[in-house]
Amino acid sequence: MSTRLAQRLEVVQPSATLAVSARAAALRAQGRTIYPYGVGEPDFETPAFIRDAAKVALDAGATRYTAVAGTPDLRKAVAAHSERARGVKCAPEQVVVAVGAKHALFDLALALYEPGDEIIIPAPYWVSYPEQVRIVGATPVIVETKEEEGWLLTPAALEKALTPKTKAVILCTPSNPTGSAYPEAALRGLLEVLEKHDCWLIADEIYAALVYDGFKQVSALSLASEKLRERIIVIDGVSKTWAMTGFRIGWSITPVHVAKALDVIQSQSTTNAAAVAQAAAVAALNGPTDSVEAMRLRFEGRRTRMVDGLRAIPGVKCRAPEGAFYAFADFRALYGLPSAHAKSGKLENDLEIATFLLEEAGCAAVPGSAFGASGYLRFSYATSEQNIDAGLAAAKAAVEKAKR
Ligand SMILES: Cc1ncc(COP(=O)(O)O)c(C=O)c1O
Repeated sequence: MSTRLAQRLEVVQPSATLAVSARAAALRAQGRTIYPYGVGEPDFETPAFIRDAAKVALDAGATRYTAVAGTPDLRKAVAAHSERARGVKCAPEQVVVAVGAKHALFDLALALYEPGDEIIIPAPYWVSYPEQVRIVGATPVIVETKEEEGWLLTPAALEKALTPKTKAVILCTPSNPTGSAYPEAALRGLLEVLEKHDCWLIADEIYAALVYDGFKQVSALSLASEKLRERIIVIDGVSKTWAMTGFRIGWSITPVHVAKALDVIQSQSTTNAAAVAQAAAVAALNGPTDSVEAMRLRFEGRRTRMVDGLRAIPGVKCRAPEGAFYAFADFRALYGLPSAHAKSGKLENDLEIATFLLEEAGCAAVPGSAFGASGYLRFSYATSEQNIDAGLAAAKAAVEKAKR
């Protein structure tokens, strides 16, 4: 049939979280108070100096196409920022600017993965990793990690998952959805394994600036030998650090030959990220850091509130995350609790628990099974302190009532 949709759509999962967010929107429309714990973006305004820079840039002519891989100014600013953050030399030619980090990852999937290739993805994972791999016909190899091991991939588990077909390993640190981050020793252990195996390491460091309690964030690029660095790709962007999700600017830092391939791919798809957004990103990267630090401190305080509030719900366990703005809590103790919203009348899975919390307490969290970890729920604390306190108090009361 000539009008059939492409077969690749048959292997791509629609978002498993849509049902919960659609119901949350419907309840909100009915006037119910909904606590938005599903969000993946900072609730802060983009700092004023960045918005001002965008306005100035528009009047100065940032209204046209730019070079495919980004303006020279932005590629230079990204390279300088990476050198400051990672302590490793970075040439502007290694940087390709995309329409967000998600797009940078998608370009990479097109440039690197083929049918037959295996891409190792530790679970819990960010939802787009396996789906992007599937879209291009390659195979995601999901490797489970354990909460008691800090949700970190171990060298032994990595070694076991590697095969001659492994094309890449994707690591996200700090992680969406768990908030856990790799300490230096843990990362070194993985790099030792990868030294011996010829594949790419894709390090998604989009949350690198959001770490708490003095956690020492370290990049794989900083620790790797010069030889291994040739196989490391860093993904980063302005969305989370500078509260700039709507600007849609992300990038990859790769060896120059890969950057050239990404340039070819992008030249036949999006051409370039919006000129005005690139100018805003230059301002962010080169600008003062006090607003970033102020946002980080607010997130740090909220993280403690969120974790304490979750732990106060009877039976719920929650590891204190090192970074990002998510808490990933174990709700399995709620299995068996009576609920009018569960199929059997009793809660049996994380989707039912998420529905219960939404209907009974107005808490919109994301079921862990969307990230490959059933029994858990992801709570974003990119929302106000009042929302965190009030929503979790409501959740606690709802669970206590159901237990009676
Ligand atoms: C782990 C991770 N990587 C990449 C992205 C993409 O960010 P953006 O496309 O806004 O740059 C996100 C956004 O949620 C994320 O959580």
